[in-house]
Amino acid sequence: MSFRGIVIEQTVEKGRIRDHSAEIQDIPESFLEGSGGDAPVDIDVMYSGINYKDGLAVAGKPGVARTSPLIPGIDLVGKVTASKDDRFSSGQTVVLTGGGAGESAHGGLATRARVSGEYLVALPEGFDARRAAAIGTAGFTAMLSILALEREGLTPDDGPVVVTGAAGGVGSTAIAVLAKLGYSVTAATGRVESQGDYLRKLGATDIIDRSELSEKGPALQKRRWAAGLDTAGSTTLANILSQTQDEGVVTTCGLAQGPDLPATVMPFILRGVTLVGINSVTAPRAVREQAWKRLADDLSTDLLDQMTDEITLDDVPARADAILAGEVRGRTVVSVNG
Ligand SMILES: NC(=O)c1ccc[n+]([C@@H]2O[C@H](COP(=O)([O-])OP(=O)(O)OC[C@H]3O[C@@H](n4cnc5c(N)ncnc54)[C@H](OP(=O)(O)O)[C@@H]3O)[C@@H](O)[C@H]2O)c1
Repeated sequence: MSFRGIVIEQTVEKGRIRDHSAEIQDIPESFLEGSGGDAPVDIDVMYSGINYKDGLAVAGKPGVARTSPLIPGIDLVGKVTASKDDRFSSGQTVVLTGGGAGESAHGGLATRARVSGEYLVALPEGFDARRAAAIGTAGFTAMLSILALEREGLTPDDGPVVVTGAAGGVGSTAIAVLAKLGYSVTAATGRVESQGDYLRKLGATDIIDRSELSEKGPALQKRRWAAGLDTAGSTTLANILSQTQDEGVVTTCGLAQGPDLPATVMPFILRGVTLVGINSVTAPRAVREQAWKRLADDLSTDLLDQMTDEITLDDVPARADAILAGEVRGRTVVSVNG
């Protein structure tokens, strides 16, 4: 028995990747032996997705694929075919985002997977499999960020929320959910011309060019935002902190501009601003289930469909390059059997 999927092979020397290949192969079932730990769950995969991290892994950039050979894909949605984990049974539709899949363990860019049940979630009743994959890590991270803003007490009456990386996967989902919840959302994008209409359709009330936030600015600036949902890091995040009103809150999940944070403590000590870190990879089960339930309730399926493009395994290498080049809009679902 064999199955079809992408296999990354590479060697890492002093942090540099050598002899990288990412090819579609017929993979023997034995390839998955030992995957999923002591109580593995076997899955017939229906859909995976392309996140920024998948782009890095497939294109041979460092930091994501931590073992070789490796099936990439940090997301998967599929049907359980066998489970040694009591929490799951054959026939169940499940979703996995993160948890090491596609990084240190085999992931979802193949027709079969064997994973640990630790980060697996049974799809909420009535949740469509393709839409769950369309949400994937990016949409899940957007919801984790919104849950964090709510935990800090944010309400729509507090004022505008700025979302960076607006036309990307996290940004698009965040805008759609925040707008549905009644927030006034400012979308910061590098693609005002080409994606302005798209962002307005998702629910953005204002659109600004991301260059407004990307240059180094003063430690305290005019108060513009009740909250920020940042995917960019670097000076963009520093400026958002400096522009956040008293007792406001900002979440940080990404590094689209850079991993540095050239900020001062002034927004924290003079305006009581809170900065909350978001890590989707190892979010605990209870939080995962809460986030998926909220995504079922608060994300318009119409808007999700409008932000989703579908490709097959054959298209993955080109899409990986495109996401790294910042050319992908919204979310990409991979129909692994297509
Ligand atoms: N912490 C976590 O658990 C977690 C989970 C998911 C993702 N992430 C991270 O979050 C970020 C966004 O992920 P994603 O899946 O949404 O990726 P994505 O679909 O590739 O979107 C990233 C967006 O960032 C914007 N961007 C690109 N270069 C930029 C720059 N130099 N300065 C400011 N913005 C820039 C672009 O949006 P515009 O064209 O609209 O400007 C781009 O579409 C990535 O860094 C990813 O690694 C983290």
